[in-house]
Amino acid sequence: MQIARLKLNYFRNYEALDLRPLPGLNVIVGENAQGKTNAVEAVFFCAFGRSHRTARDAELINQGMSGGYVGLDVQTRAGERRIEMKLRAGERKQVFIDRLQTQRSGELMGVLNVVMFSPEDLELVKGAPAERRRFLDMELSQLRPAYYYKIQQYNAALKQRNALLKGEPGRERSQREVREQLYVWDEQLAAAGADVMRMRQEFVDSFSTLARDLHRSISGGREQLAVSYAPSVDAARYGGTEREALQEALYASALDDIRRGFTTMGPHRDDLSVCLGDAPVRVFGSQGQQRTAALSLKLSELALLTEEKGEPPVLLLDDVLSELDEPRQRALLEAMRDCQCFLTCTSLAGLERAGMTGIHAYACERGTLREL
Ligand SMILES: Nc1ncnc2c1ncn2[C@@H]1O[C@H](COP(=O)(O)OP(=O)(O)OP(=O)(O)O)[C@@H](O)[C@H]1O
Ligand SMILES: [Mg+2]
Repeated sequence: MQIARLKLNYFRNYEALDLRPLPGLNVIVGENAQGKTNAVEAVFFCAFGRSHRTARDAELINQGMSGGYVGLDVQTRAGERRIEMKLRAGERKQVFIDRLQTQRSGELMGVLNVVMFSPEDLELVKGAPAERRRFLDMELSQLRPAYYYKIQQYNAALKQRNALLKGEPGRERSQREVREQLYVWDEQLAAAGADVMRMRQEFVDSFSTLARDLHRSISGGREQLAVSYAPSVDAARYGGTEREALQEALYASALDDIRRGFTTMGPHRDDLSVCLGDAPVRVFGSQGQQRTAALSLKLSELALLTEEKGEPPVLLLDDVLSELDEPRQRALLEAMRDCQCFLTCTSLAGLERAGMTGIHAYACERGTLREL
């Protein structure tokens, strides 16, 4: 996949940008706060329909302006596609694919596939389970747009169930009354949740083999990375289907849920277990081991996307290279070879040291990009 053109109008600190990136390695170099991350953020925004650093679209509009625009032409195996995002202050954004306005946000999933590498990837290994769930959700949505709709459905049912659990201020209810109403949501939650669990399990099954092999190679054969799905409700323990297990778990936790005012069981509490041998990397890994594990996860994501989509995604590398030591840099460089990449850095010197050739560089200065 290749981005042939990127147009920005009043996006972040860009007033007007019309960029025709090259197929290989596009380097955006500049001092701090010039707009390097903003440029890769625009690409990410077109892939996922949201920014990687804010949930508030209004922040993306150039300050003081009433609207902004990102347009992107991407060449894929299926031909050229155009993605456009129109932002208006105080309104929902409009998304256009091939000049037609989309009706559902899920339509965007899988049109442009990107993998982003950034220093925050470390959180995948070190951070809370929510980080790993986000990783699962984003990757699965790119791979299987149907997943995106399922998780939306699940979250909608979850919101309703939680609202019921929380109740309305000043309105007393009997436990029985609540339990009777919960049943409706339990059914919906179990139906959507079971699909989510199955798709997550399937994903992790293919993912973990890739991650193990990649990690072994990056660590020089010394370490065994084991990634597995750690569902909040383990269907095997209940001895039935995922749906039955979920419904049973919801039923069993109803009293607890009513007392606490939210849903305590289900895929929204899932995790991904990341271990070296038997030891969780999060707890026992050294800094270096954690970094390598995080890189292995991202590289596996890239390999899986390439395999399943039949073409490599676009890579976004924001500020990553300087953080990596040589073996890890080499692994990343190797993976970048067949992809169009957008890489940001504050100086080109490090790239030359890392042996990067065929670079196409742009100087980034206060919301402008100039070819070097
Ligand atoms: N909505 C906006 N309107 C105008 N300017 C904005 C907006 N949002 C962010 N900025 C400006 O963009 C700049 C930050 O851009 P960006 O994060 O891309 O920097 P960077 O080049 O990646 O820097 P660093 O090397 O520190 O990561 C800041 O100066 C910020 O004030
Ligand atoms: Mg930046």
